Amino acid sequence: MRILLCDPNNEYLQRFNTGREDFVKVTTSKEAIGAGVFNLAVISTELPEWEGLARHFVGQNTETYIMSPNITDINVWKKTTEIGCKGVWAKENVQNELSIKIQGHIPQNAGGRSRRPLRGQLTRDSHNNENHHVAENVLTKNLPPRQQTAAYHPQSQKPPAIVVNRELICFFGVDGGVSKTTMSINTGVGLIKKGQSVVIVDFDVFSGNVSTRLKVAPVTTMVDWIKGHNEDLSKCLVDHPSGLKILPAPLNHEEGELITEEVAIKILSILTRRFDVVIVDTAPLLIAPTVITMENATRIYVLCPPDAATVANTKKVIKRLDMIHFERFKFKLLVTKMPKSKPLEANHMAATLELELAGIIPYDEGVQVETNKGNPPILSRRAKNFARAVNILCNTIAPNLQVASERFSLLNFFRRRKEGII
Ligand SMILES: Nc1ncnc2c1ncn2[C@@H]1O[C@H](COP(=O)(O)OP(=O)(O)OP(=O)(O)O)[C@@H](O)[C@H]1O
Ligand SMILES: [Mg+2]
Repeated sequence: MRILLCDPNNEYLQRFNTGREDFVKVTTSKEAIGAGVFNLAVISTELPEWEGLARHFVGQNTETYIMSPNITDINVWKKTTEIGCKGVWAKENVQNELSIKIQGHIPQNAGGRSRRPLRGQLTRDSHNNENHHVAENVLTKNLPPRQQTAAYHPQSQKPPAIVVNRELICFFGVDGGVSKTTMSINTGVGLIKKGQSVVIVDFDVFSGNVSTRLKVAPVTTMVDWIKGHNEDLSKCLVDHPSGLKILPAPLNHEEGELITEEVAIKILSILTRRFDVVIVDTAPLLIAPTVITMENATRIYVLCPPDAATVANTKKVIKRLDMIHFERFKFKLLVTKMPKSKPLEANHMAATLELELAGIIPYDEGVQVETNKGNPPILSRRAKNFARAVNILCNTIAPNLQVASERFSLLNFFRRRKEGII
């Protein structure tokens, strides 16, 4: 197995005393390219041309990882995903990651595989820095157990742990147009009808459109809260007549970068304490807000229409998530936009993706009609097939409550307003 480790800091590289001839350490891209073909390449973001180098190795079918001293940087994740790398490693954790790759080293205390920290442990303290400077024994047999850390946020200060009151639901899909926003909105309205207090967080931070979809005008967004224009996050929430609350995405898409890991944690931490259900609409990218939501979600719906290409893409991303040790049991497949002709069987899709099937949402022409009017299709008879399927899904989320009539839900809405919940 030929392995490449490429970092501009020779001192750092010298810590990796492996004694293996097939382990190549280089400080420049030129040397890396000249060193031939590798099975595994680890490239540092501290090389100015790391993206080009990563592309070169991905193009050679090398299993390529990016190592970064700052893995909270959204750009690194975005670019890594675009290039087709396998993942991002924290620089100080490279020795363990490599040893696991090479020796199949399995931690003793993780039930056969390494786990990300649980919700309640999501603090910077959950990162164990003990092994930070112990690089000598890398790739040798006497390795320390793998750090019980989220590969994504090992560094900065302590954020609040997210304590989820009832449900934190993530709608995720690897491609655009798979119905993430439609399902976020309609599941939200469906749960409001069941008497829950619900907020939708638009974490599709670069092109979010929840408020536009619902034709509600956001006066403020999460950016105002980040910049301190609004101290209270609840002041940034927008009301929809159904009772749904919305935290809109940045209006200026470039400001999406402001939604860092820390900001995402704080937002979810506040909202999960206040609402029964927090629904997160995500971008089709493994950027910080998406990853943080997934780590803390109680349910993650992976949305996939019956289309072979999307199934293949979804499988790739799930594999990537597996590599950074997500709790797979939380992921459920939601087949969306299923036409009557059923080009693919939902059960076959679930088997291919190795995910439990959470439901099938039919393709319903009424969805588009109502969406264009700014109405949630779940409230319309025109989209009754869609509405039925979403209501079934809502029953699995909040099974113990009877489905309330709309009138009743309105009463709940005013009750909650009076009680100051919303
Ligand atoms: N079940 C359905 N039946 C018919 N049309 C649907 C259905 N679900 C969604 N659509 C339509 O598909 C389009 C894309 O849906 P939506 O915007 O929810 O996807 P998305 O995954 O959020 O996309 P993006 O990644 O661009 O944010 C919309 O026009 C929506 O009205
Ligand atoms: Mg969307």
